[in-house]
Amino acid sequence: MPKIAIIGGTGIYNPKLLDNVKEVEQKTKYGDVKVLIGDYKGIEIAFIPRHGSKHSVPPHLINYRANIMALHHLGVKNILATAAVGSLNYEFKPGQFVLADQFIDFTKSRQNTFFEGGDEGVIHCDMTVPYCPDLRKAIKQAAHNKNIDIQDNGVYVCTEGPRFETAAEIQMFKMMGGHLIGMTSVPEVCLSRELGMCYANISIITNFAAGISTQALTHAEVVDMMRSRVADVRQLVMETLLYVFNDKNCDCTKILDEIGVNK
Ligand code: HPA
Repeated sequence: MPKIAIIGGTGIYNPKLLDNVKEVEQKTKYGDVKVLIGDYKGIEIAFIPRHGSKHSVPPHLINYRANIMALHHLGVKNILATAAVGSLNYEFKPGQFVLADQFIDFTKSRQNTFFEGGDEGVIHCDMTVPYCPDLRKAIKQAAHNKNIDIQDNGVYVCTEGPRFETAAEIQMFKMMGGHLIGMTSVPEVCLSRELGMCYANISIITNFAAGISTQALTHAEVVDMMRSRVADVRQLVMETLLYVFNDKNCDCTKILDEIGVNK
């Protein structure tokens, strides 16, 4: 059973560096999910392309609950997620990698919990430290080994999308303390935490956000920048796999004690 999963964002649609890859269709009560499972240096890894293998699913229509529950059913305890993001300031430049440590949620229409009352109960999951500190440490170690520059600590503002933001929205997010802007980390990270899974986000800056850049934004610009960084993303993620251990100091599994069940 794979203990680690990679969720590939824009530009990362296949687990190229895995051996013995097979596709499984994992059933969940939220829908069935195609998951690729393969090996890297003897470590079994699950892989899901968040937007589908042909980037056909927009951020607001991703079945986040099915994806995370499918990984949970497969035995995954750790999720490394990549995400293309815009930058809200000139310190984080296109092409750079940033490890998000916090998020601000501006999504609107997403199903963002597994606990909808009734038989499922109600929980209020702690979100003080949303992204697993131990996984982040593993990513930093991997970046160091591979000589890949990664900035630590970024506040990820998650919007509903699929449209990009107005310049005024970006100014507001900036005043609130945001550094990165994207459309997918919420509810992915929240759902992972509800199931006691460790989750980390590697943000790849593809553009200056609306109004920070003097030009209008295009999806092609995002895709082009991702394409130019994909080799480093792959190296970073694969090297990180070697530093993901089972005995961690994080509190990501504490929620399971709180709810008293392994859902
Ligand atoms: N805004 C929202 N999502 C994004 C952006 C952006 O500027 N760039 C990449 N994903």
